[in-house]
Amino acid sequence: MASPAFLELRQVSKVYSIRQKDGSTQKIEVVREVTQTIPEGHFVTVVGPSGCGKSTLLSMIAGLNPISSGQLLLKGVPITSPHPSLGMVFQEDSIFPWMNALENVSFGLEMQDLPKPQCRKRSQEALELVGLKGFEYSYPKELSGGMRQRVAIARALALNPDILLMDEPFAAVDPQTRMFIGTELRRIWRETGKTILFITHDINEAVFLSQEIWVMSSRPGTIIEVVDIDLPAERDIAILATDAFAQYTGHLWNVMRSEWESTQESAQHMA
Ligand SMILES: Nc1ncnc2c1ncn2[C@@H]1O[C@H](COP(=O)(O)OP(=O)(O)O)[C@@H](O)[C@H]1O
Ligand SMILES: [Mg+2]
Repeated sequence: MASPAFLELRQVSKVYSIRQKDGSTQKIEVVREVTQTIPEGHFVTVVGPSGCGKSTLLSMIAGLNPISSGQLLLKGVPITSPHPSLGMVFQEDSIFPWMNALENVSFGLEMQDLPKPQCRKRSQEALELVGLKGFEYSYPKELSGGMRQRVAIARALALNPDILLMDEPFAAVDPQTRMFIGTELRRIWRETGKTILFITHDINEAVFLSQEIWVMSSRPGTIIEVVDIDLPAERDIAILATDAFAQYTGHLWNVMRSEWESTQESAQHMA
């Protein structure tokens, strides 16, 4: 029998119950029947308009949010709760301001009852991997937004997860830094062989980073297109100026525009 896919989503849906003024609840479908697989070691990015259900999809994969229907499997095993094989990096500053970089990275490992010297060593290695050697003893307020997000990445990597789930991790970072840190993320991905599922609403970032892009429709979010990005593995910022890059971004803009226009039309019908 073939071995199970690394991460597999089978008709995964999510319905939230929204409380109304009169105490009743109204159901809204946020994610609709997402069926996709991610092979081990792949870098997949999800793009879609704000509010389409991207974070909801990721939080279900992280085991933080139960699915309403369908099946969600990691190496053939259903994901029902947060799992040590999953590392999360969020958009907001999620590192502790009262701990220095090393303590922040070490924290999760210490929670796992690893001996302290081993925690320190692994944390130091993770900080080095994200390019923060020399900043181990700096506090978050002494680091730039981009460096703080690197600490968050190091913290996730130190736990040695099989898959890294990243929810718009560089959204608060300026566009230039965002692309440079993206280059670093690709280097880390290639060095570690981790599977990455990355969320963004930035088309350039999606094309620059990934091997495969899933385009989500507006709510209820469903995957309307999967685009394979066949650009060289060795990607430098200079790739942004190439025709091949522009072809991918142009195509994605067209898909997003068609989706936007169709939602405008249905809104007019309802008016
Ligand atoms: N816990 C929740 N309860 C009810 N509705 C929610 C909850 N979380 C998100 N939503 C709603 O689900 C929709 C999708 O949210 P989200 O997944 O955060 O979208 P995105 O990340 O694509 O911007 C939004 O309309 C949001 O208001
Ligand atoms: Mg979101």
